[in-house]
Amino acid sequence: MISVKVNKITSEATNICSFELIPVNHVLLPSASPGAHIDVHIDHDIVRQYSLINGPNEDHHYVIAVQKELQSRGGSKAMHDSISEGDIITISEPRNNFHLVEDAEHYTLLAGGIGITPILSMARHLSAKASKFTLHYCCQSSSRMAFKNLISESNFSDCSFFHYDDGSEDQLLDLHQFLGNRPDGGHLYLCGPQGFMKAIEAASQQAWPAGTVHMEYFSVDEKAISGNTSSFQIKLAHSGEIFSVPEDRSIVEVLAENNIQIPTSCEQGVCGTCLVGVIDGEPDHRDVFLSEKAKKRCNKLTPCVSRSKTPLLVIDL
Ligand code: FES
Repeated sequence: MISVKVNKITSEATNICSFELIPVNHVLLPSASPGAHIDVHIDHDIVRQYSLINGPNEDHHYVIAVQKELQSRGGSKAMHDSISEGDIITISEPRNNFHLVEDAEHYTLLAGGIGITPILSMARHLSAKASKFTLHYCCQSSSRMAFKNLISESNFSDCSFFHYDDGSEDQLLDLHQFLGNRPDGGHLYLCGPQGFMKAIEAASQQAWPAGTVHMEYFSVDEKAISGNTSSFQIKLAHSGEIFSVPEDRSIVEVLAENNIQIPTSCEQGVCGTCLVGVIDGEPDHRDVFLSEKAKKRCNKLTPCVSRSKTPLLVIDL
């Protein structure tokens, strides 16, 4: 855990603020790779993950941006309403589930709304390395577009393009046309809301082979988590203990009630902190952390949201 001071809070767009976090006691912060995120401990009960927008060699501060969600579970609202400049808060070291591959011939970066945060960090790192890339940033309107000025004034402004849902036809991004041709040796990185991600996944299927499309979700569809649940039993492979998981409880909750703690962070199937191995049974994956390929292997699951398709699931605990 790292204590940091909230040095500066800046309004970046409608309902979006950036938070500059600096080390207390003048120590440097652990360096962060592009696409990394940190856990922010907002209070005793609330921990949320936010991507860093940092460029290279910025170990004197971390910068995150938070969009105040109308359907907030408490995290984004608390960040906006309860955190002030000068506060000391606790964060984790940076972790990265959204790595840039080294030395691709070309990178296509696609951001939807607040999904710009890890993508912006990638653009800054790629620009510093003089790598070939393009950045496309889609948003509902310019008033909701955070960091537009920063990008427009950056040294990668020439390869950055803005697209507004409420703008003229000629600036809209036709995903099928745009993703129909893959630049030689190209890798695609995308981050944004569910609908945006699904549309890009579908549009990129023909031209972008497996392993060249990389994505990071920052939220999940609540219906995908809570819909159509049924009870099942969970067996811990090491102790042989068996517990019933009712339809309205998660595996993590049931185990916690029995004094078996699984480390969690997002509790939404996004971050992978709770990942456990599966020894037997078929998981009912409800997360966005594991890739489709990893889900098919059925040897891991995220117990904060995922369930079981078989009456008994044996996990590696
Ligand atoms: Fe984040 Fe389970 S705690 S995926």
